[in-house]
Amino acid sequence: MAEDLQLNTGTRTEQYESLIPQIRGLLEGEPDLIANLANITDAVKEQFGWLWVGFYIVKADELVLGPFQGPVACTRIRKGKGVCGSSWEQARTLIVPDVERFPGHIACSSLSRSEIVLPVIRNGRVVAVLDVDSVSLDQFDTTDQHYLEQILNLIEWNL
Ligand code: SME
Repeated sequence: MAEDLQLNTGTRTEQYESLIPQIRGLLEGEPDLIANLANITDAVKEQFGWLWVGFYIVKADELVLGPFQGPVACTRIRKGKGVCGSSWEQARTLIVPDVERFPGHIACSSLSRSEIVLPVIRNGRVVAVLDVDSVSLDQFDTTDQHYLEQILNLIEWNL
């Protein structure tokens, strides 16, 4: 593979429908998890222009920053802390329309206004979370959850 991402300018659903097969192509035949996570963060950020797209990986009792695109970010997050640590603790997706209204939100970038965090659950435990931040309020809903879950399911989590 060595082709540019084809960006779609349609509705959000159309954008995901165009992006997902391209992500599948990017991952094809590549077993390296870090390489795949790195390409996914860029593909999602390029298509949607969000502020920050990245993974935190569960290591012992913390989330540790993994591949991401966007401004530099907090390296470690404890279970139950911030949106990411809460998503890990609760093992569910959290959609935050206004980060200032989320008690304990961790502001890695002062530009972030809304956020979605999805847990990656394998063999009954959370192994990582995907975090996406936007500079605009109320940018994420269950459509994003649905398609971002599809993207997470393309990944072979050989941690
Ligand atoms: N806002 C997140 C921290 C991670 S950064 O946004 C990249 C949180 O509250 O967990």
